[in-house]
Amino acid sequence: MQTCIHPFFGGSLPASPHTGLRPGYLASCSVFDLYRQAMASVVIALLVLTCSVGFSQGRLQFGFYDKTCPQAESIVGSVVREAALSNSNVPAVLLRLHFHDCFVEVNQIFSFSFFRSYNGPNSERHAFGHQGVGGFDVVEKAKAQLEAVCPGVVSCADIVALAARDAVALANGPEYQVPTGRRDGRISDVSLAKDMPDVGDSIQLLKNKFLQKGLSEKDLVVLSAAHTIGTTACFFMTKRLYNFFPSGGTDPGINPSLLPQLQATCPQNGDVNVRVPIDIGSEREFDSHILQNIRNGFAVLESDARLNDDEATRSVIDSYFGLLSPLFGPSFEADFVASMLKMGQIGVQGEIRRSCLAFN
Ligand code: HEM
Repeated sequence: MQTCIHPFFGGSLPASPHTGLRPGYLASCSVFDLYRQAMASVVIALLVLTCSVGFSQGRLQFGFYDKTCPQAESIVGSVVREAALSNSNVPAVLLRLHFHDCFVEVNQIFSFSFFRSYNGPNSERHAFGHQGVGGFDVVEKAKAQLEAVCPGVVSCADIVALAARDAVALANGPEYQVPTGRRDGRISDVSLAKDMPDVGDSIQLLKNKFLQKGLSEKDLVVLSAAHTIGTTACFFMTKRLYNFFPSGGTDPGINPSLLPQLQATCPQNGDVNVRVPIDIGSEREFDSHILQNIRNGFAVLESDARLNDDEATRSVIDSYFGLLSPLFGPSFEADFVASMLKMGQIGVQGEIRRSCLAFN
């Protein structure tokens, strides 16, 4: 059955110039679905209003490029759509890139620094925590087109933030506005990646790393749910499947009915580059299914599984699945947007790169 898509989330409206094409379909929506999605729309609209006040007090603003480069968002959108047509995992890759771009340095606001990473073997991109991060070609392509029409205006960090927003929409997730005006970092050092959350971190460490960035336990849960789309390499599964700390063997948190499947796909001493969907059963659709999987012991990534072990993070997950949650509970989509906007404020002061591949 097709999914119920509310107009606010792009389902039946003509494609937004910056969020991509999505099929309109309302016929299979129940009254509850429509009610919930209408509530989520209201929450997101209020959020955008509130945030526009908050963000314009800082450096980020909605429509920052309206006068200086009005085509900025549509150019990013068309490059992302085109890339996603030739590789369906592009939305997931771009969403992950935004997370890594945001998390590279603490306490310095309004400019992202991941693009520092192109400079040499000790550059940030080579840190363990950034293994497998991609999407640079898509960002650089958008940048080249933007430089042709508005040279020196649009930062690479903003392109990444806009591309992540478009990626979410392409995966049938919520549509939202992104405040822009970020600048690109000027230094790159592999040691700066130490604050990057690691898949094997304890729940306490994950919470601390998010807190260091001004992100709450709720943000940790909701943003981890970005794993609703995309895949992981077996590389990140090996420890969990065969050498789990402290006693070796398998992570007891893995549901026994999932374990054989994971071990068959990622055999011990097998090819660590083989990829596994992270949200088993719904890896292409942006939805709260990943949280249901985590609750049921079907988390693929260890860091996701830990969210269900801790009382505080578990209660955030549970809040989306209570008896009355469909009617009166929080909206996962609205919460995700709120956390993305919060995460999108982390960064450093810097410059507007001419190319995303090098400092000016
Ligand atoms: C709690 C901290 C997190 C940890 C430890 C973590 C770890 C990982 C790992 C190990 C992978 C697999 C990478 C690969 O094999 O290529 C992955 C994939 C992914 N992550 Fe996270 N992640 C975290 C939070 C986030 C956040 C906050 C977002 C975005 C808001 C995000 C978005 C994604 C996406 C979309 C993928 C799939 C990428 C693909 O298909 O290529 N992650 N993550």
